Amino acid sequence: HSADAHRTDLMTITRFVLNEQSKHAESRGDFTILLSHIVLGCKFVCSAVNKAGLAKLIGLAGETNVQGEEQKKLDVLSNEVFVKALVSSGRTCILVSEEDELAIVVEPSKRGKYCVVFDPLDGSSNIDCGVSIGTIFGIYMIKDHSEPKLEDALQPGKDMVAAGYCMYGSSCTLVLSTGSGVNGFTLDPSLGEFILTHPDIKIPKKGKIYSVNEGNARNWDAPTAKYVEKCKFPKDGSSAKSLRYIGSMVADVHRTLLYGGIFLYPADKKSPNGKLRVLYEVFPMSFLMEQAGGQAFTGKERALDLVPKKIHERSPIFLGSYDDVEEIKALYAEEQ
Ligand code: AHG
Ligand code: MN
Ligand code: MN
Ligand code: MN
Repeated sequence: HSADAHRTDLMTITRFVLNEQSKHAESRGDFTILLSHIVLGCKFVCSAVNKAGLAKLIGLAGETNVQGEEQKKLDVLSNEVFVKALVSSGRTCILVSEEDELAIVVEPSKRGKYCVVFDPLDGSSNIDCGVSIGTIFGIYMIKDHSEPKLEDALQPGKDMVAAGYCMYGSSCTLVLSTGSGVNGFTLDPSLGEFILTHPDIKIPKKGKIYSVNEGNARNWDAPTAKYVEKCKFPKDGSSAKSLRYIGSMVADVHRTLLYGGIFLYPADKKSPNGKLRVLYEVFPMSFLMEQAGGQAFTGKERALDLVPKKIHERSPIFLGSYDDVEEIKALYAEEQ
């Protein structure tokens, strides 16, 4: 149909997911209801982030979380928003949040069949200076429908049924996969709707950007050090890669997904498991990368094959363009 038909044929995230879910009839209604509550949380946090500076929502909340990090006011606010939205959806039974030490078991009357793991506000160190931040989430089906157990939250990333992030930057962009590709939606504030703007995202097979905190270089292991050296001083005469590092995983991963390249948060002598948390940072981003044709590697194995033992455990992560991750895998294979 004509070009202007697209202008009136608004593909909202809700319509999109309903179409998708028609392929998985068994969970069409429940999943769409769950997602609509996650979307509500993202809209709320987006508006809070946009007026944070004005509404005195920047700065510290005066508590520290289980990670040993000083919680920012927005960390606490967004956590409360997402916990309430997820519980009130009536479709979840166990929640894991970066900001809560223990898993949250939903009260029986409000239980559903999903387990949601999430980082309510990713990139907190960037809040006060206005640099892009985000929310990251992953969704599992619980295994059996009796009492929810911690094991329902400790599933390997490959068993996630959906994963996504919302980035609060120059625009509010929600990137989602329900297991058949990756799609990006941009919030139209005048409608309060997320509109499909990035259909079927595929990450370039190889990229020209590497993304790592070079400040940790002193503590890297040999394969990581060799790889970064190769990015800066390529032996085969190709041009050096550019370094782009924002310090918000959501923003660094979003750029990697759209432009290609590699994002790495390696292990180092100080933190042998790196910094990023498996359930609500490593798994969702690795799920998206694979769905977009890229890959994600821990230094030892495919990231999605990891079986977490604890809900806040960490893992080194190398993710992005397929060919770039192959190179780091080869360097770790030599090391064995
Ligand atoms: P969070 O703000 O949710 O605690 O996550 C911060 C993470 C991630 O967003 C980012 O990639 C990484 O911390 C940056 O760590 P460094 O400052 O050590 O580079
Ligand atoms: Mn944190
Ligand atoms: Mn985070
Ligand atoms: Mn966080």
